Amino acid sequence: MSIQYYEKERIFALNTPHTTYLCGIAAQEGFLGHLYYGKRLEGISGAPELFRLEESPFTPENNDRDRVSFFDAFPFEYSSHGVGDFRESSIKIRDEGGHSTVSPVYESHEIRRGKEKLPGLPATFAKEDEAATLVINLRDPATGLKMELSYSVFENVDAITRSVRVVNETKAPLYLEKVMSCCVDMEDQGFDILTLHGSWARERHMERKSLGHGKFGVSTVRGESSHQEHPFLALLAKNADQNGGEVYGFHFVYSGNFLAQAERGQFSHVRVVMGICPEEFCWKLEPGEAFQAPEVVLTYSGEGLGGMTRNLHDLYRNHLIRSPWLHKKRPILINNWEATYFDFNEEKIISIARKSAKLGIEMLVLDDGWFGNRFDDNRSLGDWYVNTEKIRGGMGHLAEEINKLGMKFGLWFEPEMISPESELYRQHPDWAIAVPGRRPGRGRNQLVLDISRREVRDHVLKMVFDVLHSANIEYVKWDMNRPLTDLGSAALPADRQGELCHRYVLGLYEMQERLLQEFPNLLLENCSGGGGRFDPGMLYFSPQIWCSDDTDAIERLMIQEGTSLLYPLSCMGAHVSVCPNHVVGRSTPFATRGMAALAGTFGYELDVTKLSEEDKKMTSFQIAAYHAFNNLIREGDYYRNASYLENHLYDCFQAVEKGGAKSLVFYTQVIGQPARHSRRIRLMGLKAEADYKICTVNLDREELLTDTGRVMNGDLLMQAGMNVERLWGDFQAKLLYLEEVRA
Ligand code: DGJ
Repeated sequence: MSIQYYEKERIFALNTPHTTYLCGIAAQEGFLGHLYYGKRLEGISGAPELFRLEESPFTPENNDRDRVSFFDAFPFEYSSHGVGDFRESSIKIRDEGGHSTVSPVYESHEIRRGKEKLPGLPATFAKEDEAATLVINLRDPATGLKMELSYSVFENVDAITRSVRVVNETKAPLYLEKVMSCCVDMEDQGFDILTLHGSWARERHMERKSLGHGKFGVSTVRGESSHQEHPFLALLAKNADQNGGEVYGFHFVYSGNFLAQAERGQFSHVRVVMGICPEEFCWKLEPGEAFQAPEVVLTYSGEGLGGMTRNLHDLYRNHLIRSPWLHKKRPILINNWEATYFDFNEEKIISIARKSAKLGIEMLVLDDGWFGNRFDDNRSLGDWYVNTEKIRGGMGHLAEEINKLGMKFGLWFEPEMISPESELYRQHPDWAIAVPGRRPGRGRNQLVLDISRREVRDHVLKMVFDVLHSANIEYVKWDMNRPLTDLGSAALPADRQGELCHRYVLGLYEMQERLLQEFPNLLLENCSGGGGRFDPGMLYFSPQIWCSDDTDAIERLMIQEGTSLLYPLSCMGAHVSVCPNHVVGRSTPFATRGMAALAGTFGYELDVTKLSEEDKKMTSFQIAAYHAFNNLIREGDYYRNASYLENHLYDCFQAVEKGGAKSLVFYTQVIGQPARHSRRIRLMGLKAEADYKICTVNLDREELLTDTGRVMNGDLLMQAGMNVERLWGDFQAKLLYLEEVRA
């Protein structure tokens, strides 16, 4: 088994194929401490020495005066609160007496095969023989509070997951004011910290900086994982790059408020904590009740950022995304949003579908505006019945017409929202999240439904199900267009209002679970004003998430670079749209837009009836490329060769078939520099001993592949590189295909 307990040393060793995580019970007082996380170890003898317990003055039992120094230096697996470890605590309570201290010590443990579900929460999964789980029970002796730390170890991926269940085994109710899902105290290596930040239309840009002393964290209290920050951080050795160096990644499987923080302390330690953001969180636990905190994914790579990326991609493809669509080529879709916005009727939609079908597009997705009185974004969210003024004949009829063209049909919803101007609001004004006596803020003229309430979820789901049952709808885009503010639930008592944000997320998960139970083959795409809720929690429900409302091919280079740092390309919703681009006003070649979309789920978001003949032809070339290469893009390994975000000139990444026999190279020359010269790119992930034939994939002419006549050795391509010719002008794309030449 991948988890071993060494009785004599009182050490737990958690082994993945290439990594070891060590923690153990300290001789003094039974604290659970962290010892090591990194390259897989051959043995652990002497590991307890690493605790530095005998170092003066850190021996609390013998020298109680120095208990505080001990707490502030000991590498805790789950840090205490209020007893002398002045670094970030993992847990904080308010008990009957108003006190907040917690000091967890080891009580017992259990090692199990497989991995159990987390009730109500998305989490990675594994069969009995694919993972093992260690549960370490900690207790705060003074209050009796119990904390069950879970560690699951995967047999076939270099990843470990951690989560925590807190059980109120005290005699009175208490309030959980903070519960981190993991705490890891590491030896300081002078790390850099990498996070993803952004805004609407600029999601997940990478940011790397030196981790100084003090705390550096990212967090959100927007009620969703957010455009602005991402529930992720990585610690990188200074020399770490794409190909080499040590990287520790932490990723939170949760879609609401989070805190991800690294703290460099006075001694040579760095503490990482990750969990639900304590701000806007307070959960009442009656005696005997338990609270399950969401899961954190930990991954160590000795092979730089690229290693971390591929670990996460494999973990998510094999152990997180459940959809039956995961390993399938998704239907190429056309979405009418950028084509029509709210201004459409069924004739317009059918005309788009008719033209699309001729080009080989396989599904039409009807976006916002088909329901209630929705002629603009001022009204009708919550009124999920068909607007027959726009869709004459109803949804069943429209779907039939689309199906007759040989296309599938998909529909947009925003189930978590309510417009003040809606039937639903007139009937149930108290269903909106709001604080009594305060006019709630209206983001995009709408309010947020209190889906922490069962009756609200039931009501909305019934409306959604009725529409979905009324027509042959095979895809749903589930949108969410504003953050949570004015936090108040009409259904929660005063001492439980602090539970609203987490209950909201649990409500969301329950709704999506019920949707998928009702329609098991549905292709679900999550979305939040673009990519405002692109996180591992949502991936558990939908195999793809709309990446950003910014469909500009150049902006997408940076957005998709940051997204694919963590997520497989098969998850990233990406479409070809018109120029000038509706968000940034930039004009880029049609082929470049095609390549950016091919690196994701691939689809179109434009009025195909207005496309020029030339663009129409190119659409069918791109579609041919999708069919030829989607398997490789969807299932392959991802390698990042150059970053436009860093160099401001060009971008390059590869999708490599597992084993290395085939690869696509996506190269974009953003700036066509005046000096005429080719550029040397070092390829990655190839077989050193193999020779490769190099072809160009044509996105602008009928012939799919042009053999360049070049055959080059894999090692040469990886060490010396490949020349990419200078392209003419800005924003030019080049897609290359390499295939091993077999004798
Ligand atoms: C935001 C989404 O990201 C868009 O794609 C579109 O669906 C609009 N909402 C519709 O309101």
